[in-house]
Amino acid sequence: MTAMTVNGRPIRFALDPQTPLLHALRDAANLTGTKYGCGVGDCGACMVLVDGEALRSCLVTIAEAEGREIVTIEGLSYDRSHPVQQALVAEQAIQCGFCTPGIAMAAAALIRKSPSPSEEDIAEAIPNLCRCGVYPRLVKAVQRAGRVSMRRERISAAPAPGIEPGDAARAVPALSDGSAAEGDPAGD
Ligand code: FES
Ligand code: FES
Repeated sequence: MTAMTVNGRPIRFALDPQTPLLHALRDAANLTGTKYGCGVGDCGACMVLVDGEALRSCLVTIAEAEGREIVTIEGLSYDRSHPVQQALVAEQAIQCGFCTPGIAMAAAALIRKSPSPSEEDIAEAIPNLCRCGVYPRLVKAVQRAGRVSMRRERISAAPAPGIEPGDAARAVPALSDGSAAEGDPAGD
């Protein structure tokens, strides 16, 4: 068993310790907001927070994540009220949305450390690939999120429709016998 905290909940994975965290999150814990893009560390679609640092979960094994605090896009906020989420919507920095969860996690880590990032800071901290090319809007959104995080600005964007967090975190029925993951990330 490999134990860690995911979105504030203790969870234990009964998987090969060398399993990439990305696959444990998506396939065992049903946290499919974290995206599988390239699988080799190039795209950033799989970024999650590991002890507050944005890391590519395709490159982190669950053995390496043991005992650490993981936050996925489902746990960034439970009502889509995180400044980064609000600013991405308000600045329309989302097209197909596939890259968006990874970008949101990288941006959240950045503005927590540096709430007034320059364009260069953003390019360095968020090297994520976006095939739709939202980069100019992304810069505006991250800088706006930083201002919101410092309470210098408010955004009243309506939360985007989506799946309830409890449903998103429910175990995959086929795996709910505990053979792949134990612990209920949606429960206690
Ligand atoms: S899926 Fe991890 S960097 Fe592309
Ligand atoms: S919004 Fe489509 S890949 Fe970024």
